[in-house]
Amino acid sequence: SKGTYDNYMLKEIDEQPAVLRRISEHYYHNEQASISSQLLTALQQADRLYIVAAGTSYHAGLVGKQLFEDLADVPVEVQLASEFGHHLPKLSAKPFFVFLSQSGETADSRQVLDKVRQLDCPTLTVTNVANSTLAREADFALPLCAGPEIAVASTKAYVAQIAVQAVIAQSLGIQKGLNAAKKIDIDNQLSLAANAIQTIVDQKDYLKQLTHDYFYNQIAAFFIGRGNGYATALEAALKLKEVSYIHAEGFAAGELKHGTIALIEEQTPVVAFVLEKSTAAHTRSNVKEVLSRGAHALIISKKDLSNANDQIVLADIDERLMPLVAIVPAQLFAYYAAVEHGNDVDQPRNLAKSVTVE
Ligand code: M6R
Repeated sequence: SKGTYDNYMLKEIDEQPAVLRRISEHYYHNEQASISSQLLTALQQADRLYIVAAGTSYHAGLVGKQLFEDLADVPVEVQLASEFGHHLPKLSAKPFFVFLSQSGETADSRQVLDKVRQLDCPTLTVTNVANSTLAREADFALPLCAGPEIAVASTKAYVAQIAVQAVIAQSLGIQKGLNAAKKIDIDNQLSLAANAIQTIVDQKDYLKQLTHDYFYNQIAAFFIGRGNGYATALEAALKLKEVSYIHAEGFAAGELKHGTIALIEEQTPVVAFVLEKSTAAHTRSNVKEVLSRGAHALIISKKDLSNANDQIVLADIDERLMPLVAIVPAQLFAYYAAVEHGNDVDQPRNLAKSVTVE
């Protein structure tokens, strides 16, 4: 039930620290992640992972790609189910398919699963609904442990998808004897991320005020970032569109100058995710470019930049897991903008919780 909440979306945003703790409890016993050796062996035999998903789950896959490539040294392609199903690319010699789906019922993803099973490719579904179609029909299934997600806008399932991919990627890396995997303690990082998210959800008054200052009466908003900050920008834009109906786009920060910057006007909201050290200076200079064209710019980063105007400072956790935390302020922007516009937050227009048509 909603308990004391007016709607499910805010309740589910608030549950995210608990979800990360539940994932740790489910997957970690005596420091070893409990991923079956059959699954790890099947993953280890693959020369490439194909992550297939839609919407928010696809964005979680983009974050997962970096985790698998860094921690398990395996190349990854992330594909939109609706595209992939109709235009199967040339596959690698030993592909392994990972389906990310909160509901486990998304028709676009089911269609791809049917196709790749006919090709005899090994498959894993990572889902929040244990007995769902995608879970039953794949060779392997792993739970997200997010608890029922009722609001149409996916929030806690997204962070769970990133967290569970981190668990699998690290387990695979350890199985392969890789240092990158041995050096990171995912269990501990999930606990740090849970605390960091708690700090954000405890600042609701500030985030509500920022939402009003940045998005009220705006017709467009831009989210920018690089690397996993870009993936976060895509997800932040989808969240804002879906519940507040403000037109929002996520862009790779360096691409703005190749066209999109023409859309920046006086007071256009631009939110920049600066999550990685290696590109922080570049993204900050992109922020300066939009500021000089009149944009209203907000930076979300783990570094306190004394000279920036508005910023949200995130706790310092492993860079590769920063998307777990960085998305949360944007979920709250979407939420408060929707409430301020009088929208039905849990049931946005034209949408259903699970999309069972292609
Ligand atoms: O159940 P799934 O994760 O397969 O659903 C995929 C998308 O339909 C879903 O993430 C959708 O984009 C959400 N409404 C986004 O908040």
